[in-house]
Amino acid sequence: MRILLASSEVYPFSKTGGLADAVGALGKALAKAGHPVGIITPLYRGLRERFPKLQKADWQFDLLLGLKRVGAELWTLEVAEGLTLYFIHQPAYFDRAGLYGDNGADYGDNAERFIFFDKCVAHLARFLPWRPEVLHVHDWHTGLVPMLVAHQARAEGWTQPPKICLTIHNLAYQGCFPRSNFALTNLPGNLFTPETAEFYGQLNCLKAGIAGAEVITTVSPRYAREITTQEFGAGLDGLLRKRQSALVGILNGVDYEEWHTTANPYLPAGYSAANLAGKVECKRALQAEFALAVNPTVPVFGCVTRLADQKGMDLALGALEEMLAAEMQFVLLGSGAAECERAFQALAQRFPGQVGVRLGYDQALAHRIEAGSDFYLMPSRFEPCGLNQMYSLRYGTIPIVRRTGGLDDTIVDAVEDPAAANGIKFSDCSAHALARAMRKALALYQDAALLAQYRQCGMAAEFSWDQVVKQYLAVYRPS
Ligand code: ADP
Ligand code: GLC
Repeated sequence: MRILLASSEVYPFSKTGGLADAVGALGKALAKAGHPVGIITPLYRGLRERFPKLQKADWQFDLLLGLKRVGAELWTLEVAEGLTLYFIHQPAYFDRAGLYGDNGADYGDNAERFIFFDKCVAHLARFLPWRPEVLHVHDWHTGLVPMLVAHQARAEGWTQPPKICLTIHNLAYQGCFPRSNFALTNLPGNLFTPETAEFYGQLNCLKAGIAGAEVITTVSPRYAREITTQEFGAGLDGLLRKRQSALVGILNGVDYEEWHTTANPYLPAGYSAANLAGKVECKRALQAEFALAVNPTVPVFGCVTRLADQKGMDLALGALEEMLAAEMQFVLLGSGAAECERAFQALAQRFPGQVGVRLGYDQALAHRIEAGSDFYLMPSRFEPCGLNQMYSLRYGTIPIVRRTGGLDDTIVDAVEDPAAANGIKFSDCSAHALARAMRKALALYQDAALLAQYRQCGMAAEFSWDQVVKQYLAVYRPS
């Protein structure tokens, strides 16, 4: 099958969260399974320097965007056999310090930037000589693509457009903008209705995608059920219920070529399920790096996250207040909400040698925390899939997760299956419930045999993309 993916971020080219990991790995795995794959994404700042093999293609975009015409270049990179990246080079939109914003504020022209991007996606899907059969778009940034394609098929003679699949990685981000932005799509005004892109008078890009895509997937089976309820539906549960027969939950995989513990260039020492000596060394190095007391017998709880409401870091702060009297340490790598950043910095100042906090984004440190920690905290309020808990399993680090979305689908608690348990789950959305789960972790830590059993179960868990790809291919097939 010939497949074109479109995403606002793709690892290793750009990343703010799991979307990049998921799309990058999906493209790779589809190509490995023998399918020709293209991925369209913006050419952000610094990419040409970081990837000097990028080539300018003989292709010029010149598209109507509202009342003006906007041009762009196309740059390409063949990353593996059968896998081509298509970068949209429009410096005024994409050569900026951030992907979506800067200094904590979204760019004011995000509607314009991503409507333009969506027009480029539809244009490429239509005119690429290899004629993609499937166009797989991701999240709100590409939400208007189905409408653009449908209109071109209806009114502009685009025969046999590709089947469109939309994946919702996070329903909390919908791309809502003042309705005046709809004019930038150059679609007839009568297409702006509550059945399509209109949401309480505003333009809602994700809603347009959900209404228009032939298949909708989301990144775990449990989240697929959750988003059809009022509690998790973020105002779109009605539409999602209407489209339920087209909605499928497909759990993300893990790119084990990137996330592994043997010969990983980011780690100070390698290890495996058969020989965990290197993990002890990773823990020692992590304690030293964060100026914590270097002591192999004190359990380290780690966390790498966007500091967004979704991630429940207020629960973590509350639970830590309760728990730091015990013999334990905590390390965090995160960035996001300023208030949350300050709260963790203050905690680190109050508990020197016991709490270490690094603000910012650091891929290598993310690996070192996954490897050097004994437990990994993920108290998310909601979690479409979550990748870090799966990375933790492979790194022999025991996840403590809230029973929601993909966290529930990937982690096994002793209550569910004592022989297969690989993590600790809690249900209540409260600091106290998390603290109780952390106390269970401390008890587990004292039981060397049981701890080893959890680790072995976790490290043996397999979330390979090769399996995931089969599920996507099934939804890609013509219906
Ligand atoms: P989300 O996409 O909601 O942020 P996921 O668990 O799916 O959550 O994916 C998060 C990804 O982003 C992981 O690969 C994680 O390691 C990475 N990540 C998050 N915050 C940081 C950070 N501050 N530094 C480095 N990597 C980070
Ligand atoms: C989103 C979700 C996260 C998911 C990721 C990749 O960012 O918040 O749960 O793992 O997308 O699908």
